[in-house]
Amino acid sequence: MSYIDVCREKAAQLKTKEKVNILAIESSCDETAAAVIQNGRVILSNEVFSQIPLHALYGGVVPEIASRAHVDAVDRMVDHALKEAGLTFDEIDAIGVTCGPGLVGALLTGVSCAKGLAYALEKPLIPVNHIEGHICANYLTHAELTPPFLCLVASGGHSHILMVEDYGVYRLLGCTQDDAAGEAFDKAARVLHLPYPGGPLLDKLAQKGNPHALKLPMAHAPGPYDLSFSGLKTAFINAVHKLDQRGETMPPEDLAASFQQAVVDALLSKTMQAALDNHVKCVALAGGVSANSGLRAAFTQACQKAHMKLYMPELKLCGDNAAMIGSAAYYRLIRGEIADLDLNAKPALRLV
Ligand code: KG4
Ligand code: ZN
Repeated sequence: MSYIDVCREKAAQLKTKEKVNILAIESSCDETAAAVIQNGRVILSNEVFSQIPLHALYGGVVPEIASRAHVDAVDRMVDHALKEAGLTFDEIDAIGVTCGPGLVGALLTGVSCAKGLAYALEKPLIPVNHIEGHICANYLTHAELTPPFLCLVASGGHSHILMVEDYGVYRLLGCTQDDAAGEAFDKAARVLHLPYPGGPLLDKLAQKGNPHALKLPMAHAPGPYDLSFSGLKTAFINAVHKLDQRGETMPPEDLAASFQQAVVDALLSKTMQAALDNHVKCVALAGGVSANSGLRAAFTQACQKAHMKLYMPELKLCGDNAAMIGSAAYYRLIRGEIADLDLNAKPALRLV
């Protein structure tokens, strides 16, 4: 029997197995990560190697450096994840891996490693969309969360508002027309002379600032649930430069707080409008930007007021990790969505 025929049979048997352990690998950008997840919900291990110090010198992710660093770290991360979970390769039922979207060289490292393991161990190989992974981080934090719910995914590369109708079934309501929210945070942070990635540092500064100190325009986007951050980012950069040219000063805390408030306002108003229009009772946040303290506070307040239940991943699951990939992989496996060994990296893979 061929590899894929063996794995189809194994995948079918796993549908009724009591405990399904998935080894997951994530390498789409600048984190090399491996995790072992049970039944899509329980984290047995979650190992993340951050490459940030390697890229900070250049002010952003350098794709070639990222690929090489992934090659260096991926085996080690897999070993650590198994050891931490207290399992051997024999006790792993399937291998999940991020196949897109992301940097092609970075993705290829994880995909190649996962394919090698899947072939050598004769275990099903499950391709996972990175954005779906971010959404599934909520399943690891909230045992009671099940679809349907509305989700705002805001990360360094993506900003989407979508309905999670069922496991693996998504309906796009709106998305950014230009920059992603995280990208805007990082660019704004750069003009405040914060090192890459500036989002979390800007968040910290903003906590001590006045969010009304600097007037910024409300972002306009075509669809009712679409987003746009490029105009806001440019307005902010211009305002900071103008202050500089005039020799005027405004505390960086106030600048950070004003920018953060503008981004949070846009994300909150579009998401809450989408939730109201779709008669949704549950709202979830996902992606690196969901770690933002202002965003978490604003959504907590708004959802309470609207009598909606709010779900947010715990902080360590907001950014890139492999645990979320292991959760998404489980639900794909249950539906029989496994890949053959010709699986490739898909840098522009879409979720919907
Ligand atoms: O999801 P993620 O780890 O990677 C992508 O899939 O893109 O998101 C990373 C992004 C970066 O732009 C980072 O600055 C931003 O999320 N981020 C934050 C915060 N923590 C991470 N932005 C604002 N406030 C934060 N606390
Ligand atoms: Zn991500």
